[in-house]
Amino acid sequence: MSSQQRRTAKITAIGKYLPDKILSNFDLEKMVDTTDEWIWSRTGIRERHLVRDGEATSHMATQAALDLLRKRQLDPKKIDCIIVATVTPDMFFPATACLVQNNLGATRAWGFDLSAACSGFLFALDTGARMIESGQYSNVLVIGADTMSAILDYTDRATCVLFGDGAGAVLLEPCEEGTEGIIDSILRCDGSGAEYLYMEGGGSLLPPTAETVANKQHFLVQDGRAVFKYAVKWMADISAEVAERNSLTSQDIRLFIPHQANKRIIDASAERLGLTEDQLLSNIDRYANTTAATIPLGMADAVEDGRLQPGDNVILAAFGAGFTWGGMYIRWSKIH
Ligand code: ACO
Repeated sequence: MSSQQRRTAKITAIGKYLPDKILSNFDLEKMVDTTDEWIWSRTGIRERHLVRDGEATSHMATQAALDLLRKRQLDPKKIDCIIVATVTPDMFFPATACLVQNNLGATRAWGFDLSAACSGFLFALDTGARMIESGQYSNVLVIGADTMSAILDYTDRATCVLFGDGAGAVLLEPCEEGTEGIIDSILRCDGSGAEYLYMEGGGSLLPPTAETVANKQHFLVQDGRAVFKYAVKWMADISAEVAERNSLTSQDIRLFIPHQANKRIIDASAERLGLTEDQLLSNIDRYANTTAATIPLGMADAVEDGRLQPGDNVILAAFGAGFTWGGMYIRWSKIH
């Protein structure tokens, strides 16, 4: 790359980690008043992976990063920055990114956590890409990881069936602008949606007390119908907006990798783009909603299944608590 050419970021390696414990819909039938039929028909979920006692977000994030480093054969000392998108950090501080940095031996890296719920990975990927573009960094590790089982009430059938645990990681490296990599993104938030999806307790507004625990204020709360209404519209809108802004027709898009919250939301967004089943990545049946991990897990599965080749046009889209949402256009690169 000559000094005249502007540089941008491309994904060069992907890693993933899913805990080995599986919770099926049939297991949930024994825990709450639900059925496999209800969960499958309303959400498209069959099963999800859950951590075991003592395993937390930093452990899953580290495993996903190690998988990536093995594939890329990259010395951890070459990593410049680690961004971990999560709403379930091991603890408030230190940041999960610091724990991952230490686990990896990434002794030259700095890092931080980014909180944007289900849009977290997309926000982190865009942030990492801007860091590469700045010219100051050449190896940025972007991880999406969430231990949703830590903040779910397993007596509440409306929420506990929806989520799973997992982590995915990508490495960003420089490339020549316009040829490949992250071409465009549109990101948004609207805090007026905060009332529909939140975890109330444990922060500075409502520090933990015996009362907040008794009131179950340390669990995720969701108005499913309200979130569904916004998610269906805004994820579809932003996917269409990013495609139109880049003059991409449905035929131009090789793969659409949306956030995996509900198969009906996924299908509505794909339909809006005019895509067929083979242009859509959906793995919600096996993993459920892993929050910040859904998109990197989707990318990892697409690569494993040989569904992406260099030059392919890929659209990513997400919607989550905040509300937060976004769309991104990537021209796919060679993945190690
Ligand atoms: N099993 C059986 N019945 C259930 C269950 C269950 N697990 N959960 C709810 N029900 C019942 C309800 O009580 C309700 O019964 P009622 O009619 O007698 O009151 C009925 O099923 C219908 O409930 P709805 O909430 O209307 O069901 P809906 O079809 O909307 O599906 C769902 C619920 C799956 C939660 C859906 O609304 C959804 O996917 N919402 C969006 C989720 C999302 O996108 N979240 C954003 C990302 S998450 C993040 O950012 C952390």
